Amino acid sequence: MNPAKDLKDLRVDYGRDPLVEAQLDPDPIMQFQRWFDEASASGIPEPNAMSLATVDEQGQPACRTVLLKGLDERGFVFFTNYTSRKGKHLTEHPSAALLFPWIALQRQVEITGPVEKLSEEESTAYFDSRPRGSRIGAWVSNQSAEIPSRQYLLDRNEEFERRFASSSIPRPDFWGGFRVIPETIEFWQGGHDRLHDRIRYGKKNRTWFHVRLSP
Ligand SMILES: Cc1cc2nc3c(=O)[nH]c(=O)nc-3n(C[C@H](O)[C@H](O)[C@H](O)COP(=O)(O)O)c2cc1C
Repeated sequence: MNPAKDLKDLRVDYGRDPLVEAQLDPDPIMQFQRWFDEASASGIPEPNAMSLATVDEQGQPACRTVLLKGLDERGFVFFTNYTSRKGKHLTEHPSAALLFPWIALQRQVEITGPVEKLSEEESTAYFDSRPRGSRIGAWVSNQSAEIPSRQYLLDRNEEFERRFASSSIPRPDFWGGFRVIPETIEFWQGGHDRLHDRIRYGKKNRTWFHVRLSP
């Protein structure tokens, strides 16, 4: 087998109806909501899964999937461990890119901008809404740290199950939300013969505008 050859032959001709300016909402959050609703209705798994790109102190990028858990005009919210690799990156360099890869719909959305921590109240409100197992899991996982074995994790899980057996589970102070405040939002939709549509929103004087980019 020649894997490179097989990859070379993998090709899809995209062909949605073109994305034209007249269809676009002037507010990209509303436009995102429209596409998100369509992604949800399409039945694709986890439409709220997004890639999160961050950089470390040396400018080395890293990328992983997180789940969108909140959205309003302030931005895109996800939850994580603040001492994880991404947590450290965002504390040192509070700026990120998000990507929703809705490949089955021949669409992607990229968001860039500065990042802020959610308030304690917002993080706690979400933490308290999570199932018990997930709340225990937040205590168990020293996310991104090296551990000796899977058994180590199971033992820690037991330990925290015992610790919280007869009490409520508070939100650990090392766990909470981040909000990506959008500065740019780009909507990409596949077109015939690689003539894709790319519409990028930006802000001027606190007002959203959009431009078309070459594919
Ligand atoms: C579908 C999916 C959803 C995920 N959602 C989250 C999430 O919401 N928060 C999170 O911290 N990690 C989530 N993860 C795990 C991350 O991708 C990653 O492995 C972990 O957060 C550690 O990343 P880091 O070492 O860069 O900090 C998810 C992974 C997948 C595949």
